[in-house]
Amino acid sequence: MSTATIQETTNKQPDRSFLPPTMKAAVLRQFGPPDVLKYEEIDTPRPKPGHVVIKVLAAGMNRLDHYLREGSVMPNLSLPHILGVDAVGEVVELGEGITGVQIGERVIPAPGFTLREADDRNRPLAASPSFVVPGVHVWGSYAQYMEVPARWVVKDETGLSPAEVATLPVVLGTSARAVKQVGEVKAGDKVLVTAGASGSGSMHIQVAKALGAKVAATVRDDVKGSYVKSLGADLVINIRKEDVVDRVKAWSGGQGADVAIDNVGGGELAKTIEAVRPFGIIVAYGFSAGEEATFNVREFFFTQKQLRGSIFADPEDLHWGLDQVRAGRIKPTLDRTFPLRRAAEAHRLLADNQVKGNFVLLPWDD
Ligand SMILES: NC(=O)c1ccc[n+]([C@@H]2O[C@H](COP(=O)([O-])OP(=O)(O)OC[C@H]3O[C@@H](n4cnc5c(N)ncnc54)[C@H](OP(=O)(O)O)[C@@H]3O)[C@@H](O)[C@H]2O)c1
Repeated sequence: MSTATIQETTNKQPDRSFLPPTMKAAVLRQFGPPDVLKYEEIDTPRPKPGHVVIKVLAAGMNRLDHYLREGSVMPNLSLPHILGVDAVGEVVELGEGITGVQIGERVIPAPGFTLREADDRNRPLAASPSFVVPGVHVWGSYAQYMEVPARWVVKDETGLSPAEVATLPVVLGTSARAVKQVGEVKAGDKVLVTAGASGSGSMHIQVAKALGAKVAATVRDDVKGSYVKSLGADLVINIRKEDVVDRVKAWSGGQGADVAIDNVGGGELAKTIEAVRPFGIIVAYGFSAGEEATFNVREFFFTQKQLRGSIFADPEDLHWGLDQVRAGRIKPTLDRTFPLRRAAEAHRLLADNQVKGNFVLLPWDD
């Protein structure tokens, strides 16, 4: 698996483009409830030098898309905008100066990349001045075609269906980063994953299991409990019926978990911290229960726990994750697909937490 590179050749941009002049897209022209997403005909992108245009076969959805649509995380986002970080597609047109990527190749755009080659070797990549996320800083995958820098597409060698692949890039890369790098999870560890049935949580469970850890996962209903069990969770805790701290302590011989990966923040974070053993690590990864948290500082520093943030992923994290997928140790978590024209409905269900794993939009499935 290698990231395709631009080389110093002089592939000329085709005199005539074979792309249709317009395409279908779910366009965001104003912030608001799911219905602000409008299915429209807009101009098809043409590849700038060093870029390719892919025909989007499937576009994965993340909670980030919901936050962006409602205007809660980036109220200065320039509109109109096309959401969608996750995609898999087929290369259909090359910009000038590209080798190493072929027309017809199935590729996965990196879920975050640099615009300036001089930044490519920075680690963490996301700290680079030119780092952007497709669907956030540049237009994303809720469209029939998408333009991507050629050096930031990864050949899809998973052997999975497009819909399955589209669930992967964000959650796979960021989970690998949060669980393996930041959480330092290793074989034999006991790991707590909150909101285990979420897109992120369902991947954290699998990454921790792939590393040889035991996993406790929280849910808020029993259907999602069965789901996280099917992903390999060793202990399922329904936080509407049970106390997470009591259950995790009983499971870990009274000590607490070695590591917790917290997807929810808010009022739940204090309990997550409490459920971790002295000297253990808590990775703050998400905030679906709220951005602000209160916890007992005295208890926290007396027990010398470590609270660490984790955001985005380096290319190596995604590549490690894709290796696990190819080896069959991690499976995509596709809940269901929707034709792109029904993007607003999919957003409504996501906002309502009616998703296990990830939803995927199909731009060619009319
Ligand atoms: N750090 C990173 O690099 C990174 C990357 C991707 C996402 N994230 C963040 O991770 C979080 C999850 O994203 P996602 O795409 O996985 O979300 P998602 O699939 O939409 O799932 C969100 C889950 O949050 C849970 N939840 C909502 N309100 C809750 C509450 N009050 N108490 C407990 N659980 C609650 C729900 O769990 P139930 O199943 O119990 O209903 C829901 O399934 C988001 O905040 C997102 O921004 C961070």
